[in-house]
Amino acid sequence: VKSHAAGLMVDKGNFRHFMAKEIHEQPEVVGHTLAHYLDIANYRVALPDLPFDFADVGRLSLSACGTAFYACFVAKYWFERWAKLPVDVDIASEFRYREVAMEPGGAALFVSQSGETADTLASLRYCRAQNQHVLSVVNVRESSIARESDGVLPTLGGPEVGVASTKAFTCQLTVLACLAIAAGKARGTIGPELETELVKALVEVPRHMAEILRDESLTKTWAHSLSKARDVLYLGRGTSYPIALEGALKLKEISYIHAEGYAAGELKHGPIALIDESVPVIVIAPQDELFDKTVSNMQEVAAREGKIILVSDANPASVGCAVQTALPVPTVHRFVSPLVYAVPIQLIAYYTAVFMGTDVDQPRNLAKSVTVE
Ligand code: AGP
Repeated sequence: VKSHAAGLMVDKGNFRHFMAKEIHEQPEVVGHTLAHYLDIANYRVALPDLPFDFADVGRLSLSACGTAFYACFVAKYWFERWAKLPVDVDIASEFRYREVAMEPGGAALFVSQSGETADTLASLRYCRAQNQHVLSVVNVRESSIARESDGVLPTLGGPEVGVASTKAFTCQLTVLACLAIAAGKARGTIGPELETELVKALVEVPRHMAEILRDESLTKTWAHSLSKARDVLYLGRGTSYPIALEGALKLKEISYIHAEGYAAGELKHGPIALIDESVPVIVIAPQDELFDKTVSNMQEVAAREGKIILVSDANPASVGCAVQTALPVPTVHRFVSPLVYAVPIQLIAYYTAVFMGTDVDQPRNLAKSVTVE
């Protein structure tokens, strides 16, 4: 099967679905995107000139829709932690109507695979009217959003045919990670040693992704049990929280199973009432500084018979509670865990949908680019 995407003829190669092919392209296209924004030999970021100087920016506004919004949400943590830059992150369809007053000369960043999403474009136009410097991260270079930006940082994902965004998402995260390092350098919060550490972590990402993609058998067999669920919860803390939201979106949009992403710390403020033996709870828990807190949330779930699926580099026997399935992930630097953990959550959604026989590449009711409100 061939498909037109951004005017190019694309085929599925040896894959059953475009989505599977695009999941597997991630090590390569993330590698291409890294090479575009890094001086890899010297472990330095190497961005083109930006329409503003991060040293002069007081707050950064990020706005997008769907999966692209979750990429912005991850970036909020990165800019705030590594560049000490406060970030407002907004769903574009809300932002465009909120009439928010913005400091003239501020910086606004828009992320969009297609570059044609109506709500994101409208938000961009609002920010221009508020005299913001506009920067966009797009996968389609000659798109409306790119044309109306002061600066464009392309993702080098190649055409993405599957309606459910996968490689575009990780390429968006790649660009945003490089941008956060550049912001930290400009603001004096990232020195040469830390820059080397963070860039080295980024350079390792394609290898970690390829390692996960070498053996999908566990996810493939386990996804069958997920297909019987009525509700699925995804939990995460820190930068794993937006990944939990993205995981829930992926499952919803291609398998049609209701799923919800939650900040793990929020469990006790309501959602724990949902937990019983019929509810799979997918816990995204890299062994970072928040791991122990996420483990205690997991124990609360296990105590109520929730079925835990642990996505982690930790040994499941060490978490002190029953884990129904553990999907192992390589141990990675905490800076890049969102990029690497995106792969198992994409595979969970993909194999569940394949088992359910839904139209993985063209799920019901969805369009690849929402060019109308
Ligand atoms: C993601 O899997 C969906 N296809 C959808 O949420 C998408 O991310 C959203 O519509 C934004 O699209 P864009 O990146 O082209 O602006």
